[in-house]
Amino acid sequence: MATNPGGLTSAEQSAEAGPGVQLERLTRKFGGRAVLDDVDLTIPEGQFVALLGKSGSGKSTLLRALAGIDHGVAGAGLLRVPGRTSMVFQDSRLLPWKRVLPNVLYGQPRSRRAVATALLAEVGLAGREKAWPGELSGGEQQRAALARALVGEPELLLADEPFGALDALTRIRMHALLRRLVEAHRPTVLLVTHDVDEAITLAQRVLILDHGRIEVDIDIDFDGPRDPAQPQFQQIRRSLLSALGADPIAA
Ligand SMILES: Nc1ncnc2c1ncn2[C@@H]1O[C@H](COP(=O)(O)OP(=O)(O)OP(=O)(O)O)[C@@H](O)[C@H]1O
Ligand SMILES: [Mg+2]
Repeated sequence: MATNPGGLTSAEQSAEAGPGVQLERLTRKFGGRAVLDDVDLTIPEGQFVALLGKSGSGKSTLLRALAGIDHGVAGAGLLRVPGRTSMVFQDSRLLPWKRVLPNVLYGQPRSRRAVATALLAEVGLAGREKAWPGELSGGEQQRAALARALVGEPELLLADEPFGALDALTRIRMHALLRRLVEAHRPTVLLVTHDVDEAITLAQRVLILDHGRIEVDIDIDFDGPRDPAQPQFQQIRRSLLSALGADPIAA
């Protein structure tokens, strides 16, 4: 199934492409069905983009393609991502047989140890370096996963529903943490979420993937706090929910 008929070369996916994301005519088929169908997407360096879409619309497939871990993508165009790209998932994917600090340092030179320790402090896990992942709460595990994602100073952070499994209060705290981390470390971000409010709260731009294409692409640039009580917030929420096929009145 994982063929590469369109021939995106590894050079085109190469590390030297520079920051930001540039995709042209990306197609991904499974069993003859195009989940991604000629997708074009450009993300300027440093932009925070949220990606919404119904279940099965291809969001994770798009992230995997950008992460370079899907060799079945095809297309005549470009797939350019920065060399330093990292990913976080709905579950922390911490290695259970390694303590927290070695997990954060995993795959990194030992010289990054001080950076890893500082990042653990930044995510509120100072003093937990020697804990086992199983000793951390779900939110703490996700914070450790964020530290691990940032330890290599990524130019692009790909996040696939990183807060999807957390309770509402923890999720709100994680939003504030992610915002702080992004301000401090300045990666370009592509965040997949099912949560329209999360997208509007965090992102500068929101995309909706549907029928294999990016069907909605809007900038979130209203003044004032990103407060769900704000009329502009509600207006954007209504239009996004309607594009997602959800009933805005019921939401
Ligand atoms: N390895 C695979 N083999 C066959 N089909 C696949 C494979 N990976 C994904 N698909 C199909 O591609 C479609 C898109 O999957 P994807 O995981 O990208 O959706 P998604 O938008 O992330 O959904 P969700 O919101 O539920 O996570 C689905 O119909 C899925 O069954
Ligand atoms: Mg998914």
